[in-house]
Amino acid sequence: MNNNTGNRMQDIQLKTPPKPDFNGIKIEDYHITTEPFYVSTGDEISLFESAYRLKLPVLLKGPTGCGKTRFLEFMAWKLSRPLVTIACHEDLTASDLVGRYLLQDNQTVWQDGPLSLAVKYGAICYLDEAVEARKDTTVVIHPLTDNRRILPQEKRGLLLESHPDFLIVMSYNPGYQSVMKDLKHSTRQRFVAIDFTYPPSREEQTIIIEEGQVDENTAERLVKLGKMVRNLRQQGLEEGISTRLLVYAGRLISDGIPPLVACEAAVTRAMTDDDEIQEAITEIIAGIF
Ligand SMILES: Nc1ncnc2c1ncn2[C@@H]1O[C@H](COP(=O)(O)OP(=O)(O)O)[C@@H](O)[C@H]1O
Ligand SMILES: [Mg+2]
Repeated sequence: MNNNTGNRMQDIQLKTPPKPDFNGIKIEDYHITTEPFYVSTGDEISLFESAYRLKLPVLLKGPTGCGKTRFLEFMAWKLSRPLVTIACHEDLTASDLVGRYLLQDNQTVWQDGPLSLAVKYGAICYLDEAVEARKDTTVVIHPLTDNRRILPQEKRGLLLESHPDFLIVMSYNPGYQSVMKDLKHSTRQRFVAIDFTYPPSREEQTIIIEEGQVDENTAERLVKLGKMVRNLRQQGLEEGISTRLLVYAGRLISDGIPPLVACEAAVTRAMTDDDEIQEAITEIIAGIF
């Protein structure tokens, strides 16, 4: 067995430049050094700060593209913690999170997974789109979410105790809920939930001005477009238009694409393949621009 892990830990504590790990993962890489642009839309910042202080696991709930990831990047920066993000998908295994033995120069060496790194060094660990992960994978986090705050590394016969600064956060889009893809109650009832929705008009306008680099007037029109398209949901649109898509439309416009063409690409076609709904959106766009 190698003692790479021990050395690396010391390196980090002493703040000497880290030796490149054999898989390239260094906790320094996860620090967010410049303040992410984030517009608060409620009491989510104080709520998260409190949950972090109390080390209560957090569930960020809401539709796609409404600011969950940006919020967490902002909070990690504000709390000066590294942010380890894991995009969940159905092939994600417990070993992908916890770690595995690898063969290297005829030796087996242990390679910590991202969750183990976060647990050891006190990062915020973000399981993005947690429902996408297989249930036997999500179960791995259970002992981290109660008083024990431990992570079993079963293959090594080790129990990792969480660093006091460690926190686990998951995101979840209730809109995609189905029998196949839902969070187990035994999982979700371990988290305090913070709800996200599309930002209120004024905030959304500020976001589109900054992120889309458009003037106030264009941003105002895009906000209006967002509102009207979100109202189409009763007519069969699965999910409202995300702030992200409105920002994309703004970027195309600021790059010189005519607004109608930009919105067609970033909104109409991006939102749906249904001809009727596309037509309805095109009409809304024509009315606004
Ligand atoms: N509150 C917000 N403050 C700043 N930017 C935002 C906010 N909400 C959404 N955005 C913009 O929308 C994009 C998508 O947000 P993101 O956090 O990635 O969504 P989610 O994680 O909920 O899918 C961001 O890249 C950013 O440009
Ligand atoms: Mg996200």
